[in-house]
Formats: sequence, structure tokens, C-alpha cells
Amino acid sequence: MKKTNTTLTAFFLLFSLASMGQALTGEAAAGKSLYQTYCQSCHGEAGKGNGPVAQYLVLPPADLTRIALRRDGAFPEKEIQQVIDGRREVRVHGNSEMPVWGDAFRQEGPSEKAEEKIRKLVAYLKTIQEEEE
Ligand code: HEC
Repeated sequence: MKKTNTTLTAFFLLFSLASMGQALTGEAAAGKSLYQTYCQSCHGEAGKGNGPVAQYLVLPPADLTRIALRRDGAFPEKEIQQVIDGRREVRVHGNSEMPVWGDAFRQEGPSEKAEEKIRKLVAYLKTIQEEEE
């Protein structure tokens, strides 16, 4: 009986992992590759804030899987968009080591493109939010 349960659990887990993988389509999938290019060095492969560059920073990069948890479980899309863009200061005191991506992206191309990149990044970040245990 116990064995059957374990097998069922394993199947269930595999199934949900498979559907999780599939859930990453469109904007979020594009956002993931942008993330790997621009953000991973500081925020880490899984967004936990432990990328290779993190050790050289005064302020540790934020754990991006806990954006929602840090705000009572709600993911503030607009605010995060502004943080990435650079229009919103991350810290009130001291200077932020978080680069101003809005400017960087706008230097690479038209501003609609920059906004699109940020939108995709936000869509991806939304998919990696942890939930309360
Ligand atoms: C040079 C290192 C570095 C890179 C690269 C970087 N960040 Fe950050 N990021 C930081 C640091 C440091 C903080 C914390 C800043 C602070 O508290 O002032 C931060 C904070 C943030 C926050 C705020 C989280 C919160 O809960 O308020 C978001 C969102 C974020 N980064 C997204 C991104 C995205 C998206 C990219 C890629 C486009 C990126 N970061 C690239 C260093 C970096």
C-alpha cells in the first residue's frame, strides 16, 4: 500500500514538473533568456541572489524568487517594472548597485523594444515566485 502511494506521488510529481515546464511560453520564455543574459551574473541561475558577481557587491542582489513573499504574497508587476527600468530606486538610503536597465536597453534600440524586454523579464520573474510553505 505504501509502495503504491510512493509510486503515485512520483508520477504526480513528474506530471506537475512536466506541466510546469510547459507553462513557460511566450513572454515568460523570452524573459528567461533575457534574464540569463542580463541578470543571472548577479541574481543567480535560479534567481536566489547568488550569482558569481554577487560576492563583489556591497549590497547583496535581491532574491528574486521572494519578491511576492516580501510583499505579503502579491507580485507588484508595475513596481518591479519600474525597478528594472530604473525609474524606481530600490533603496532609499545609499546608492543601489542594481544597474539601470531601462537606459541600457534604450541604448541598444528603440524605447518600445526596451519596454518589451522589461515586460518579458517581469513575466518571467512572475513565474519563479516561491509560495509560503
Ligand atoms: C550588477 C549586479 C546586478 C545585475 C546584473 C542585476 N541586478 Fe537586480 N539587483 C541588484 C542588487 C544589488 C539589488 C538590491 C538593490 C538594493 O537593494 O539596492 C537588486 C535588486 C533587484 C530587484 C528588486 C527586488 C525587490 O524585491 O525589490 C529586482 C526586481 C531586480 N534586481 C531585477 C533585476 C533584473 C530583471 C536584472 C536583469 C535585467 C537584474 N536585476 C540585474 C544587482 C543586480
